[in-house]
Amino acid sequence: IQVSPFDLVVFGGTGDLAARKLLPAMYQRDRAGQLPEAGRIICVSRRAQTREAYHGFVRDALSSHVKSSELEATVLERFVARVHYCAADATGDGGWAELAELLNAAREHVRSFYFAVSPDLFAPLSEQIGRFGLVTPESRVVLEKPLGKNGEGARAVNEAVGKVFNESQIFRIDHYLGKETVQNLMALRFANRMFEPLWNSTHIDHIQITVAEDLGVGDRGGYYDTSGALRDMVQNHILQLLCLTAMEPPDAFEADAVRDEKLKILKALKRIDERNAEAATVRGQYRKGSVGGQPTKGYLEDLGAEDSDTETFVAIRAEIANWRWAGVPFYLRTGKRLAARTSEIVVNFRPISHSIFDHTAGRISQNRLIIRLQPDEGMTLEVMIKDPGPGGMRLRRIPLDMSFVETFGVSNPDAYERLLMDVIRGNQTLFMRLDEVTAAWNWIDPILNAWKGNAQRVHHYPAGAWGPSASIALIERDGRTWTEDME
Ligand code: BG6
Repeated sequence: IQVSPFDLVVFGGTGDLAARKLLPAMYQRDRAGQLPEAGRIICVSRRAQTREAYHGFVRDALSSHVKSSELEATVLERFVARVHYCAADATGDGGWAELAELLNAAREHVRSFYFAVSPDLFAPLSEQIGRFGLVTPESRVVLEKPLGKNGEGARAVNEAVGKVFNESQIFRIDHYLGKETVQNLMALRFANRMFEPLWNSTHIDHIQITVAEDLGVGDRGGYYDTSGALRDMVQNHILQLLCLTAMEPPDAFEADAVRDEKLKILKALKRIDERNAEAATVRGQYRKGSVGGQPTKGYLEDLGAEDSDTETFVAIRAEIANWRWAGVPFYLRTGKRLAARTSEIVVNFRPISHSIFDHTAGRISQNRLIIRLQPDEGMTLEVMIKDPGPGGMRLRRIPLDMSFVETFGVSNPDAYERLLMDVIRGNQTLFMRLDEVTAAWNWIDPILNAWKGNAQRVHHYPAGAWGPSASIALIERDGRTWTEDME
């Protein structure tokens, strides 16, 4: 179904996010027939250039980031024709009158302002949008992360944006929420009878959430070095995954109902601060090594710096202090230049309460449910069965496997496709509400402070490993192992 006529105004129009994600996502939705004829994309950046010159940028972006088999000439021409360009500066008045004129030619359109720029510009951009009277009743604003460097910074950004847009118009994007398998987590939990009765500390031993990347920081070192893995990945993506895994069933699949439940989890996270950060968290940074057989540089070389104690890896033993999850650890970890690109949530069930089999049957492994976000999205439920044959009762754990590509024959759309359509539709279910962002920072800030206060060590790991050995020690202390070390 087509969305309503819209204007999508992308600030940061010549930037990396626009080229890699936003333009390709809108192209794909156009190709799918979801964009109405009147839909326009208005890209804004400081550089003065003609619309035709910017069309060159759009074509280049699409040819680099859309599969050639999906680049169809007629769609491409139709898409390019939707794209306008405006040179305007967040901190000056130049170009804003032209932008206003362009937008006011279609005041009835849904207006979405997308801030794909550094967060320092969120406040001045909002102010200009307000001053030029560009906010119509059907307007929204999309904020990319990072929303501040800590709770205080996030508050300042939200306050500035909040002077111009109200909460129902603000879409804080976390692209992990647009990933198909992440949404599937809700389908799995709340559209099946069989999981929810077991989804608690009586039946679950522990949960692991891993978001591993094989890439290094690339040319984003400047940003990354001021951020680190905790802010870059845990504050947002991993905590969102944790919330969807752990939350109570919302009473409806509706924005505030879902967000109310996620918020309760964020508030119930046990505090990690100076007293326990050494025991509950591990920081790591990659050194040179090899990934997929290729030698790779260390973080400092990638950064071109002599010294840095920014973490490119973090592992955390988190706990949720509520009735459902008391005593169930959530082991979280993420890092750059790890052995493989893999993101998954692994739910480890408790052992059976009593075995009727004798030792000849072999060990009875615990059931596991693995939800794979990428690559090869899908899920696997591991169950015990009898080994075939007349040799007696021998037990074995086997995977009941479901792969999205195999089942549906198509690869999943990019997260941004779904999220951009939700912005235009005005559906905030997959976006973070202000109180969620605040609660996430309230948990992260004491960890950051503890690291600083305790001068907590950054362990080195060779590129291509699963992080530093201290991360293995973190989970082994509890008598458990990370998924890749399990038999
Ligand atoms: C971004 C982080 O939010 O997510 C990046 O800033 C990271 O550092 C990226 O690489 C990972 O996203 P994805 O979709 O590739 O898993």
